[in-house]
Amino acid sequence: MSCDACRYFVACPGADEEICIGCGACVQLCPNEALELVEVKREKVVHIEVDGKLRSVPERISVKEALWEIGYKITAGLPAEGELYAPCGVGACWNCALEIDGEVRRACVTEAKEGMKIRTDLPRDWVPLRIVGPTAGHPVGGVGTPWEVRKNAKSEFLEICCLVAGCNFRCPQCHNWMITHMGKGRAYTPLEAAEMLTRVKKELKLDRIILSGGEITLNRAWLIQLLKELRKLNPEPETRLHISTNASLLTEDYIDELIDAGLTVFGIDLKGLHIDTFMRITGLKNKELAQRCKENAWHAVDYIAHHYREKVFIGVGIPYNEELISFEEIRRIGREIYNIDPSIQTSAMSYFSGDYRSQILPPSLDEMKTVHRLLEEAGLTTVQCFATEFIPPSEI
Ligand code: SF4
Ligand code: SF4
Ligand code: FES
Repeated sequence: MSCDACRYFVACPGADEEICIGCGACVQLCPNEALELVEVKREKVVHIEVDGKLRSVPERISVKEALWEIGYKITAGLPAEGELYAPCGVGACWNCALEIDGEVRRACVTEAKEGMKIRTDLPRDWVPLRIVGPTAGHPVGGVGTPWEVRKNAKSEFLEICCLVAGCNFRCPQCHNWMITHMGKGRAYTPLEAAEMLTRVKKELKLDRIILSGGEITLNRAWLIQLLKELRKLNPEPETRLHISTNASLLTEDYIDELIDAGLTVFGIDLKGLHIDTFMRITGLKNKELAQRCKENAWHAVDYIAHHYREKVFIGVGIPYNEELISFEEIRRIGREIYNIDPSIQTSAMSYFSGDYRSQILPPSLDEMKTVHRLLEEAGLTTVQCFATEFIPPSEI
């Protein structure tokens, strides 16, 4: 029996020739964990030209792997650490795009072939791309949707929500699994995505747009241009532009650039305080990388709260499931947020399996009420809770 997810969602570079180059995209996406990569010794080599220099690399590997073989620093962790940042590994984010035989293609899902000419600098006139999934009105909003907006909502939808493909985390509970890991799908320029979002916004007569995913911050050039295009098309100040993010890539300069480009709302999912919790929830296996991602996310909250509190809205999400995190850690998280700013809107999120991979049941409503209470007892002034029923902030 086959669910065919690999056929419809994976940008398999070997599909046409019915070969496997071991890129791993199908293994990462498979919702049933039915595939595994096995190591195969590559005896033959192919000759490629990289930035004008001739190189030999094993046959049947991806361009990303070929670059790694000849000494390029490739990272899936944090962008500042490598010469090529390839965070999603499945062809979704387009951040690993390079010029290959005169065409811009994704290094992670392109086979390195005999005679190939690769340039690691993109052409000057290259416009960034990213795979964009469904875009529609959203009835619930995100952790960055202000409680006041939810409370006073007059229509069925609160915001327009756009899901982009690709993530640097591998959270087993991800509820957008297919979109997050799909490399097949239409790649949009920032202008195309902005026009599409603006059209839906007008049809639904809404003034809020939430950009989510996947991890929206992966392809920085694309996101910054998208925000600028959205601002051009929606210059009225009441239009709110909102990102939903794990914040692991949000350095101070990135945050400054996002706000300059027109972003007005940050919804940040903090995936734990203890490193073990953080690794369990994000699926990251490298402890050092997980530590830096966690620190970046917490620092981003602190930086936004202290530098942009008047200018942008910030909401944070805290996961709860007894299999992932303890009440004691929730209490400590509450105190940490309180120490940054007690007025940061905090949402307790009921975490449980999406349709795939993980097998944990939703927490009970009573458990979520306890989480809500613990966060309020920490002194936070606006705590809401997304569980089997929505728990609003208490009137304090
Ligand atoms: S590992 Fe990559 S090349 Fe091999 S079958 Fe899966 S998607 Fe195709
Ligand atoms: S950070 Fe979000 S989009 Fe990425 S894998 Fe985790 S839950 Fe999914
Ligand atoms: S890392 Fe290649 S497209 Fe995301």
